Amino acid sequence: MSADASVDPTRESRLDLDFVRRHFPAFDVDADQSFFENAGGSFACRQTIDALTHYYTATKVQPYAEYSASAAAGVAMDRSRERWAEALGVATREVVFGPSTSMNTYVLAQAFAATLGPNDVVVVTNQDHEANTGAIRRAAERVGCTIREWRTDATTGLLAIDEFAALLDDRTALVTVPHASNIIGQENDIARITTMAHAVGARVVVDGVSFVPHTLPDVAALDADVYLFSLYKTYSVHQGLMVVRNGLLDELPNQSHFFNDGVADKRLNPAGPDHAQVAAAGAVLDYVVALHAHHGGSVDDRLRTAASSVSSLWRAHEDSLTRRLLDVLADRDDVRLLGPAEVGATDLHRCPTVAFVPLRHEPAHVAHELVQRGVQTSSGHYYAARVLDGLGVDPDRGVVRLSFVHYTSPADLDRAVAALDEVLT
Ligand SMILES: Cc1ncc(COP(=O)(O)O)c(C=O)c1O
Repeated sequence: MSADASVDPTRESRLDLDFVRRHFPAFDVDADQSFFENAGGSFACRQTIDALTHYYTATKVQPYAEYSASAAAGVAMDRSRERWAEALGVATREVVFGPSTSMNTYVLAQAFAATLGPNDVVVVTNQDHEANTGAIRRAAERVGCTIREWRTDATTGLLAIDEFAALLDDRTALVTVPHASNIIGQENDIARITTMAHAVGARVVVDGVSFVPHTLPDVAALDADVYLFSLYKTYSVHQGLMVVRNGLLDELPNQSHFFNDGVADKRLNPAGPDHAQVAAAGAVLDYVVALHAHHGGSVDDRLRTAASSVSSLWRAHEDSLTRRLLDVLADRDDVRLLGPAEVGATDLHRCPTVAFVPLRHEPAHVAHELVQRGVQTSSGHYYAARVLDGLGVDPDRGVVRLSFVHYTSPADLDRAVAALDEVLT
């Protein structure tokens, strides 16, 4: 089942790219470059930049007091949380902002450790970015849990659901898994994974960082107990957003000051909130609404409806570009493409995060030469050293990664394809 059944993967691309790109001021600055490092961090849309500027200009005070600037700051912060909850299909109190996904998982790991013991099993994968596995592994080891690793296929890098079934039993207390790997790109079937894990009473933590920039998910439908992603890769501010559901928010021990125990958005966030960024975090949803309205929706539609229809538009556009890049790379005998060579082999999304190992040159050399040709990318292990290791790729040499999103144009892709042809041979 697709993460969001209302996203139709077969829909033709009808995204108005000029309209899209007009919302990203970064294109006016680096107009002669093609940006292919979106999985590292996307450009911010104009609404995000305006909201940050407004906060710093008009309401840069301690929020939630009575005077007007302070009250307005508090209203903006609350509104971001409410709007993201609506867009993700969850309750407002389930949304927690934190400094980053790495910090959010670190805090979660401390909280989970206090609930786990030597009789418990924690299932982790080697497909994860280190942020979603390292802290949990260390915390689980500290309290004597058994750690079972759901390993990727050594050739494809994919996680097989049958192997997951074999790791579950009534001792399994926690499962951590990526919605999509930042190297392999393929969406994992989270709805199925949570159903299987819940059947044995386990909690499920999902890293959605590499997925959400491409599809704004219906988190309630996925039924993950924790769903994390990074707003700065989703056209927004540098914050992590964490949804904590199914009663887990109250079940986990408070990680904040003792008097914050009953405060939903603070108990799993010991950091003082970055007021300006939280206040500006919801502005990207104005962009989503504008896009939805421009393509035939209504500004009065629910945010969940707009999020779903815009995701469908994004996906159709991305898929047509991804198909082209994958075809080019799959045809070459001088690269090893990681992850699926096809888009749409299943109804799960193959995200446009495309990593490959050049066989005739060093990855760093290829990345350097691509940059010389206006293709902004890099090389490395991208904090996903375990998945590379599992594929027999040396994490120290790493891979070249071309990652793009809905604002990437066919002309950007033409440039990347031409540059690859020159650089790889
Ligand atoms: C898949 C994935 N998970 C988690 C993270 C960590 O996110 P953050 O930078 O917000 O800590 C990243 C960052 O690159 C990532 O790509």
